Amino acid sequence: MKESTVGRIRTIWQTFDMALNIPAIDKQHLWLIAMIVELEEDLENQDPVKMEDNFTRTLTRALDYTIEHFSLEEKILEIVSYPKLGQHRVQHTRFVAVLRRRARERVTGDYKKAALNLLRNLRTWLFQHILSEDRGYMDILTVHYEEIKDWLNLQLGNSMHRDEIEDLYKRVNNPNGKFHQTEFQTIGEDNLKIISELWFRYKLKTGIAIVDMQHLWLLQLLVNTEKLHRQRLKQEIRSEILTVKLKEALSATIDYIKEHFGTEEAIMRKFNFHDTNSHIKQHRDFNALIGDLVLRSKDDDTDAISKLLQDLKEWLISHIAVEDKKLFYFFRSRLGEVNDFVRQLNQQGKIHIWKDAVSIYKLLVEYQETPTLHV
Ligand SMILES: [Fe+2]
Ligand SMILES: [Fe+2]
Ligand SMILES: [Fe+2]
Repeated sequence: MKESTVGRIRTIWQTFDMALNIPAIDKQHLWLIAMIVELEEDLENQDPVKMEDNFTRTLTRALDYTIEHFSLEEKILEIVSYPKLGQHRVQHTRFVAVLRRRARERVTGDYKKAALNLLRNLRTWLFQHILSEDRGYMDILTVHYEEIKDWLNLQLGNSMHRDEIEDLYKRVNNPNGKFHQTEFQTIGEDNLKIISELWFRYKLKTGIAIVDMQHLWLLQLLVNTEKLHRQRLKQEIRSEILTVKLKEALSATIDYIKEHFGTEEAIMRKFNFHDTNSHIKQHRDFNALIGDLVLRSKDDDTDAISKLLQDLKEWLISHIAVEDKKLFYFFRSRLGEVNDFVRQLNQQGKIHIWKDAVSIYKLLVEYQETPTLHV
């Protein structure tokens, strides 16, 4: 498997905290995720003619492995007398039924769109299942792990993908090899983890794509600034490089906050949002905080900067969670128009959409959509 693919899988695995810390199960879950990621990459890269064949073949392979995994999981849960086995089995059965039907279906029309749509649903279902239902048996299985360990490993050894799975598991868990690579290298996996924790803990998604993307990017800039600030505090002798880096990070964050406010305000004005004035007033009040931060950082008043960075983050989070979310209820029926308008702003150079911002958005927002598997 390509290192970039492994990197992507690792990012998903770590960001969403998917490990149950039961190695035999984690290996299987990793393999399921790997198949989804491979399907996604196939769709992104291939020419349309070969695509349909390959996609159907990979989907069938995914189906086979899913069945293999589910039946093993159910056997284990039987052995440990898991009380919710019945419900769990129903979930598995429904999922397999949908997959089976979709794998047989011939798609007419926009094949790529249909395949992407299917994949998105599979992915969301699988992620949510691992993160909630499977997490439910974690405790009971951990308690009984020693008793079933040998039997489990024997079963894993029978899988036709045995070697690939072992290889993947090792590479995901030992990222310090010389080929370590991730699409989030510039952001840093530790920062990504912090961003995703904030995002999910405070439920920051508004549902307006550009706004969500900018919020995520803002969090990224803030988290990065805080990190540099902390690093600088720890130093006994101040390094010039770090000082410059911190200054740059601060001004990038402040600039982006302004750009973001500008975007929100432009959208609100364009579509006559009823509460535009009071929302804009909040943005203006916030600018006072920023002004203070600029001033303090010129004086190099580290205590004040620490406090201001903290205030900045708290203010932003509560503003997003309360005020910005109101935007969605107003705009939800016109999201298409909003997107067109945003495209214009982008073409006019009024907003910037960074590649890394898109990557974070895809990872945290698209992967967390509610599944709509119709059975
Ligand atoms: Fe399960
Ligand atoms: Fe905002
Ligand atoms: Fe706002």
